[in-house]
Amino acid sequence: MLILDGTSLAAKFKGKIEDEVNALIKKGTTPSLHILLANADDASAIYVRNKLNTCEKLSIRAKLHKFNPESITQEDILQKISLLNVDENVHGILCQLPLPKHINADMVAAAIAPKKDVDCFNPFNIGQLFNEETLLEPCTPKAIIALLHHYQIDLTGKRVVIIGRSKIVGKPLALMLLRKQNNATVTVCHSRSKNLKEICLSADVLIPALGKANFLNEDYIKPEAVVVDVGISKIRVGDKNKTCGDVDFNRVKDLVFAISKVPGGVGPMTIHMLIDNLVKTTKMQTQK
Ligand code: GUN
Repeated sequence: MLILDGTSLAAKFKGKIEDEVNALIKKGTTPSLHILLANADDASAIYVRNKLNTCEKLSIRAKLHKFNPESITQEDILQKISLLNVDENVHGILCQLPLPKHINADMVAAAIAPKKDVDCFNPFNIGQLFNEETLLEPCTPKAIIALLHHYQIDLTGKRVVIIGRSKIVGKPLALMLLRKQNNATVTVCHSRSKNLKEICLSADVLIPALGKANFLNEDYIKPEAVVVDVGISKIRVGDKNKTCGDVDFNRVKDLVFAISKVPGGVGPMTIHMLIDNLVKTTKMQTQK
C-alpha cells in the first residue's frame, strides 16, 4: 500500500515557491496578500493563522483585516474589497469562509477582482475552469491533483468518484478532472445521492470531501482503489481531540492501492497552492 504523503510533497513544493518569491523580491516586488476574516469560527482562525505564518516564513507581505461578525454589513466588506482591488500594492485578496449568514458570500466572491482572486472563487475564474488551461485554480482541487500527479496515478479513463458538491472542492475538482490532461470519468455524489455504497465500490479513485469522521469503511472501497481523503473532522478520543478523515484508514489500508492520510494528506499542500496562486497574480500584475 502506497501512502500519498502530502507533508513530504509540500516540503518539496515549498522550495520551488521560495525560489519564485525570492526572484520576484529581487526584481523589486514583494508579493502581498490581504485576508478578510469576518467570522468567529475556531477552525477559520487556525487556517488564517497558518496562512499568515506561511507568508511570513516566505517573506511575503500579508495583512489581516478582521471584522466583527455581528456588526459587519455587506456594504463594509464590499467597500474594503473595492479599495484593495485598486491598490497597486495588493496582489492577492481572499475572504475566509464561512461568512456570517447575513452576508452574501457569492456577492463577496464576485467583488474580488479576478486578477487578485487567489482562492479562484470569482465567477469569472470559476468559468475559466471549463477551459483546458487556466492561470488560477482553486487551492484544494489543485492540491488533490498535484498529489495524484506526483505519485503518477494515471487518471485516463479511470472512474473517479467525488463525494461532496461544494464550490470549494467537489464542483471545481470535477471540471479539472475532466480536462484532457486528466481524462477521468467523473461522478459527483452528495448527501441526496442514492446507492452511495455501490457508486463508491465502482470507483478506481475515490475522493471523499464530506467532513464526516471515519464515515467510509471497507464496504465502500474497491480493492486496489486509490483514495484521496479530503475530509477533516475532530473527534474526541478519551480526553483528547483527534483529527480524522472521512475514511476509516485502519479498516481500508490493506485493501487499497494508495491512500492519503488525515492529517498529512491534502491539507499541507493547499497552503502552497494558495501561495502559488499569489505568485501568479503578482507576476500578472507586475509584468509590463
Ligand atoms: N474556508 C475553508 N476553506 C477555504 C478556502 O480554501 N478559502 C477560503 N477563503 N475560505 C475557506
